[in-house]
Order: sequence, then structure tokens, then C-alpha cells
Amino acid sequence: MLSLTEKKGEPSLDKFVIHGGKPLFGEVTVSGAKNAAVAIIPAALLVDGVCRVENIPMVRDVVIEMEILRELGIGVRVVNHSTIEIDSRGLNKYSAVSDLNRKMRASYYLIGAFLGRFHRAEVAMPGGCNFGGVRPIDQHMKGFEALGAAIETRNGIVFADASKGGLHGASVYLDVVSVGATMNIMLAACLADGQTVIENAAKEPHIVDLANFLNSMGADIMGAGTDVIKIRGVERLYGGTYSIIPDQIEAGTFMAAVAATGGSVLVRNIIPKHMDCITAKMEEMGAVIEEEDDSIRVTRSGPLRKLQVKTLPYPGFPTDMQPQLAAVLCLAEGTSVITEGVWESRFRYSDELRRMGAKIQVDGKVAVIEGVEGLTGAPVRASDLRAGAALVIAGLAAEGTTEIEEIGYIERGYEDLVEKLRKLGADISRVSEEPAADPIPRAN
Ligand code: EPU
Repeated sequence: MLSLTEKKGEPSLDKFVIHGGKPLFGEVTVSGAKNAAVAIIPAALLVDGVCRVENIPMVRDVVIEMEILRELGIGVRVVNHSTIEIDSRGLNKYSAVSDLNRKMRASYYLIGAFLGRFHRAEVAMPGGCNFGGVRPIDQHMKGFEALGAAIETRNGIVFADASKGGLHGASVYLDVVSVGATMNIMLAACLADGQTVIENAAKEPHIVDLANFLNSMGADIMGAGTDVIKIRGVERLYGGTYSIIPDQIEAGTFMAAVAATGGSVLVRNIIPKHMDCITAKMEEMGAVIEEEDDSIRVTRSGPLRKLQVKTLPYPGFPTDMQPQLAAVLCLAEGTSVITEGVWESRFRYSDELRRMGAKIQVDGKVAVIEGVEGLTGAPVRASDLRAGAALVIAGLAAEGTTEIEEIGYIERGYEDLVEKLRKLGADISRVSEEPAADPIPRAN
């Protein structure tokens, strides 16, 4: 479990220490999808009743978001390790400007949720993982404006106001396929007057999950999972129970770990269809994949083969699996090429992998990886969530000891990662360190 400081997103000196070189065997159960949970929790603000949400991953971003809701005076009850109840009936604020908001990306969903409920919102601009490039939210704003809100940004706070004319349905064409904008506009449109149509919408499984959650509470959303989503505004949403889908990226991360270390693992609690874009690449690399109804077995005993891959919006290969795949390809025979097709840049982990003996050259959106015989353990630092996951995979496959700093990033999105990997036979532990009296900074 996360400590109080860690829950609040403060930096910590804790590390993962991995003694690598061991194949993984056994079974692992995937948690609920983080990127669905961080949208569904603020979506509960739109509901006039109690929402019981099951299969919640208790990762740091979720814990911070629950804390943000509590700061607003909303009742958030943890029923058990993966179930919460959110009661926002008494909510009478449309302002969330505390420091907690800046600690996570998904706090931007509060703008859509407040707008939907109160026709007004004041929300501190989001923080979250920084891949080294910009992370604009102009498409979210374009959608809110189309629905009738006036938008202004001052002192790091977004002010959205539709209190005069109210929110009305509108047609919104997204200039880029954006997960966040699609979900945020959906939130604002649920209780708006009339029909909203989002064109060129994102199609990720968590978009469908948010729509299913809202529909199960009384919304009228059609087309989620296609690139045209139609939302007919309703009078109100009612409380109910909903279970979040499994995390496609967590499942993919375990699959990549087995591909890197060798071994055979049954990954449970997955939706095989969501995994297609990842399993195709695992098979191309030489892993053997066996699908069952809600699990996938991944086995790797032979050599790894090189790949060409470009990340794309769903159903393309997910950008959130790109660093983990890169870690595996460091060990493949031949030269692989990865093109990042979603973010401006997402290769900050390559410097760290090079410390471990990887041969990676990055030029803009393209990384060229020349496979090596083996990696060697080293002290490394996570620069974001998936970069951290890539370092864990590299550390598990490497000979010797890898120490990973800045694990707070990893704990944003992976629940019980150390415990789950240890059950598969990995030698990984989470070590807490007191600050040194006179710390010597490590050169970057
Ligand atoms: N974009 C714009 N304008 C916008 C919004 C996005 O130009 O208003 C651009 C972005 O710069 C990027 C592309 O559109 O180039 C896609 O961005 P998107 O909006 O889809 O990303 P996001 O919603 O901010 C979510 C996930 C990310 C994941 C991306 C892409 C959450 C909280 N985050 O971010 O997840 O990489 O979709 O699938 O859902 C992660 O989990 O590690 C993570 C970073």
C-alpha cells in the first residue's frame, strides 16, 4: 500500500531493486484499467445518487483523485481493496484549484464534469507525466466552447462558464484523435440540452467503458468505440453499480516482461479483443500466445526477433506500450525501428536503457534499436510511468542489479507491481531510503 506522503504524490526516495536474469512463471491477475478509472471517478460528479464502482485499481492517480473529490466535500467510501462508493449528491462547488489537481493529468476531467453539472468550472491546469514534449488540451476547450461555454485561462486555472445560456448539444470535429478530449466532451454533453456529435473521436477501450458507465447511470450515448459518438442530453443521471474493464496496458506490460525474461505466464482478467494490437507484435517477436475467454498465456523460450512498429490511436499499437516494447526489442536479434505516432516524443527512457547496455538511437519520433546479447543492471531513473515500466522489464531481464529511482511515476499506474512480479519468481523489492545528510547528486 502507498504511504500518506506517496498518496499525496510527494516525491520519495524509494527505489525498486531488481536482481535480474530470472525467467517468469505462474499466474498474474490484471487490475482495473487506470485510464478508465480516472475518467469514471470524476464522471460520478454528474450522478444524482451513489455510484458503486468495482474493479478500481488502487494506484496513485486514483488515490489522488479520490482525495480531490473528498476536498470538494464529496463522500468517497472505500468498500474494499477494489470497490469504492461515490456520493456527490451534496456537491455545491464547481471549483477545484488545489495543488492535488496539478499532480495528475486526468484532473482535466473535472472541467467536463463540473460543466455538465453546474454549467461552470474552475479547475487548476493538470500536471502528470511529462514525455518531454507539450501536452495541449485545446481540443477539450474547442468542444466546451461548441457546447456554449466561454473559456479563459488565468494563473494556471481554466475558467469555463456556460451559466448564462446553458450547455446545448453541438457538433464537434476533433482535429486530432484525442482520448482526453473525447471523454471530456462526453462528460459535459451528458446533461446538456439536445444532441452532441463528436466526430473523429478516439476509440480506446476506456472510451467505451466511460460511455457504458454513464449509460448505466441513465445517459444516452451511442457509437462509443467508433469514430462518431452521439450523446443525447438527459435530465439527470441516477446512482448504480459499475465494474471497470481490465487494464489493457498492465496486461501488455506483463506480456512484455515475459517476452524479455523468457518463461511462461498466464495473464488473467483481460479482454482478449483489447489485447489484439499487442499480441500481434508479441507473436511477431517470437512469443507464443494462447488466448482463452478472459486470460492469455504468454510463453517465450526461443530467440526474440526484430520488429517495425508505429504507435497509433486504438486499434493501432498503443503508445502506452511503446517503452515496454522497446525494452524487449533491446534483446531481439537484428535492428528494430519504433515510430512514435501519438506523442511528439516519448523516448526519454532511452538514455537509461543505454546505461544498461542497450543500443538505441533516437531521432525525433523514431528510435532505432540494435539488439544486444544481454543487458546489465545499473542505477537508473524513471522519467514517466511507462518509461518506468520499461526499466522494470529491462531490469528483470538484465544480469546483475538494477536500482530504479523515481518509482512514484510507476506507482501512478501499476497496482501492487512488486508483489505481482515476486509471485512470478522475480527478485524485485521496494526499498525505502532516508535522505542522506549531504547527498551527492548523480549526473544526468
Ligand atoms: N492533443 C492535442 N490537443 C488536445 C489533446 C491532445 O493536440 O487537446 C494531442 C496530444 O498532444 C497527443 C495526441 O493528441 O499528441 C493524443 O493525446 P490524447 O488527448 O489522446 O492523450 P491524453 O488523453 O492526454 C491519454 C492517456 C495517456 C495516453 C494517451 C494516448 C489518460 C489519463 N492518459 O492521454 O496515458 O498516452 O491518452 O493514448 O487517459 C499513460 O497511461 O501512461 C498515459 C500517458
